Amino acid sequence: MSIDTLFSSEEFRQVGHKLIDILSDHLNQQAKRERPTINWHDPLSENIKWQQPLPTQATLDTDGLLQQLEITILHNSLGVHHPHNLGHQVAPPLPIAALCDLVAALTNQAMAVYEAGPSATMLERQVIAWLCELIGWKTHGITSHGFLTSGGSQANLTALLAARQVSCQKLAKSNIWQDGIASSKLRILTSEHMHYSISRAAGIMGLGTDAVIQIACTSNDAMDVNALKNAHQRCIQNNELVVAVVATAGCTPTGTIDPLQAIGHYCNKEDLWLHVDGAHGASALLSAHHKIKLAGLELADSVVWDGHKLLYMPAAVSAVLFKDVKNSYAAFAQEASYLFAEGHEQEFNSSYRTLECTKRMMGLKLWAAFSLYGTSGLGDLINTVFAKAQLFSEKISAHHDFELLMKPQTNIVCFRYIRAGLSAIELNQLQFNIRQKIVQSGAFYISQVAHHGKLWLRTTIMNPLTNSEDFDALLQRIMLST
Ligand SMILES: Cc1ncc(COP(=O)(O)O)c(C=O)c1O
Repeated sequence: MSIDTLFSSEEFRQVGHKLIDILSDHLNQQAKRERPTINWHDPLSENIKWQQPLPTQATLDTDGLLQQLEITILHNSLGVHHPHNLGHQVAPPLPIAALCDLVAALTNQAMAVYEAGPSATMLERQVIAWLCELIGWKTHGITSHGFLTSGGSQANLTALLAARQVSCQKLAKSNIWQDGIASSKLRILTSEHMHYSISRAAGIMGLGTDAVIQIACTSNDAMDVNALKNAHQRCIQNNELVVAVVATAGCTPTGTIDPLQAIGHYCNKEDLWLHVDGAHGASALLSAHHKIKLAGLELADSVVWDGHKLLYMPAAVSAVLFKDVKNSYAAFAQEASYLFAEGHEQEFNSSYRTLECTKRMMGLKLWAAFSLYGTSGLGDLINTVFAKAQLFSEKISAHHDFELLMKPQTNIVCFRYIRAGLSAIELNQLQFNIRQKIVQSGAFYISQVAHHGKLWLRTTIMNPLTNSEDFDALLQRIMLST
């Protein structure tokens, strides 16, 4: 095969058209519920099929590739656009955003420095400015900044690195980045329902996961502010230095948002860095109706906001946002003469502030979605899925065979099937078995969560096309599966 063929624009055009046809059919079949949500096979048996010898010569032509894509890949993918996909907080991405990702892949703007992606850099800065504006920092006359990075976990790590650097400089007069962790006992205070990426970040940062003090929550899973205050006072008495308080806006198990205003006021009064993990719930800012739930978010020093959750983007794209622009430089401080020039351009070299050196052009898809649909269009998605979660929770509450964990504040609904006469352990086992049967049947995809010793079925309503009949069908199937 000639090298020219590898880069043939004509072949790209032809294969591209066919590919778009295949993907459009795939999308259509899911929306019409014409295929299973998941074509379940045991991973051990699947693994046996993926032991082919390394190809030293071509084994497929492009038609063969497209055929494999359809039969092997798409048919065995979780149908994220299927209205019965209710498992995780993963978006059914806006198709236009997927097309933008194709542009990102082909143009491969490395983004490390401005020169390696001029328009990509500007797109990202534009999107970041919009997100900061939505948080409300601009209204308060604050110059904020941040960047896009590959996923909420990495974004949380970046924010906590900045928090530790700034807090240690302020409280212990030490430069952690340069000197390493001194003997001081550093602590992170966060909700018992934090995402595991917070404690993982503590492990990566060398603080040790025990440095994360989990604050008890009230009955609706929101952080108990009095418990937070008490924990902070205990840290002071023990000579422990709190580098950050991490509040969660949309906790992973149930989607509950911590009381940001009360936490923010306390942190501001005590001069504590407040980080809000809004990976899931920050998108509620787009809804005129629901944004009140995020009141106080503007008091945070840093915020993480995932695009691939409720901004309906393909993974991975997350924003890490800093209230004070200068703190966006605090996480990392690298010398790299081959990349970073002195002078005003530094501000535009994104990898100076990110864990990635090379990264994808992530801003295009967000910019396109905001430009095509506006905050009102994107806000409609939030209103719709939050309302559908409400509807589903009402159906569960009204059904005597089911128990609702709590009224959803966002779009996560947890519940369990109840059968009289079973012990607590047997009831947990029952939920486990139900989920396995449902998922393996391919009819629905749902998840599960352990909550204070009880196992619950967990649904995340991400797809605005999921309707009332779909919820009825799920409850029906659960009852039939036992
Ligand atoms: C609250 C919260 N924070 C962070 C994350 C991690 O985000 P990512 O999966 O993008 O790394 C998640 C993922 O579900 C989450 O729910």
